[in-house]
Amino acid sequence: MTPLAASQQTEKLCRLAPVIPVLVVHDAAHAKPLAEALVRGGLPVLEVTLRTPAALEVIAEMAQVEGGHVGAGTLLTPDDVSRAIEAGATFGVSPGMTDRLLTAAEEADLPMLPGAATSTEAMALLERGYSVQKFFPAEANGGAPALKAIGAPLPQIMFCPTGGVSLKNAPDYLGLSNTLCVGGSWVAPADKVAAGDWDGIADLAREASQLSR
Ligand code: 3PG
Repeated sequence: MTPLAASQQTEKLCRLAPVIPVLVVHDAAHAKPLAEALVRGGLPVLEVTLRTPAALEVIAEMAQVEGGHVGAGTLLTPDDVSRAIEAGATFGVSPGMTDRLLTAAEEADLPMLPGAATSTEAMALLERGYSVQKFFPAEANGGAPALKAIGAPLPQIMFCPTGGVSLKNAPDYLGLSNTLCVGGSWVAPADKVAAGDWDGIADLAREASQLSR
């Protein structure tokens, strides 16, 4: 898959809903009901971070949920790309980028949403053909004003800011012309997941899905 084709696919995914839930799931038994609650609430695109031992099993479970699009986050290595695809992920997300990682994703036909934190990083990704990027860590990096400023000389790059994004500050990003959607963990808080409060999570998803952009 070319970087151009990957960007077209990630753009499509980013346009499906204003928020991509970033999920840290410790128990594979939570995967299906959690994904169902988020999809039911109007957030069909899900990023499962590969940060827990259960993550690959979680992806495999979530991939069976109708209406969902399940990606793997925190992809760092070519091995992560293979494991994510085997589990059933249909896109990948990374906090940054390396040539090895992007080459592996391109060879394996996995659309990537690679991360950039500075203009130079964003330019390097654009030079390679990635016009849709994750802006990470969004809030720590200066938040919406910083992303707006990066967009002035680089209007051809569209972003999914992630990291410190909440219901409260999401509108600041979603109002920018270079933001397609935001990523955030607030729609699946650890306490609600642990308690199996799927209705509560569906409510949070519904609220997030109604953010305008
Ligand atoms: C992460 O690193 O887990 C993601 O960037 C999500 O960050 P958040 O928990 O601040 O939404």
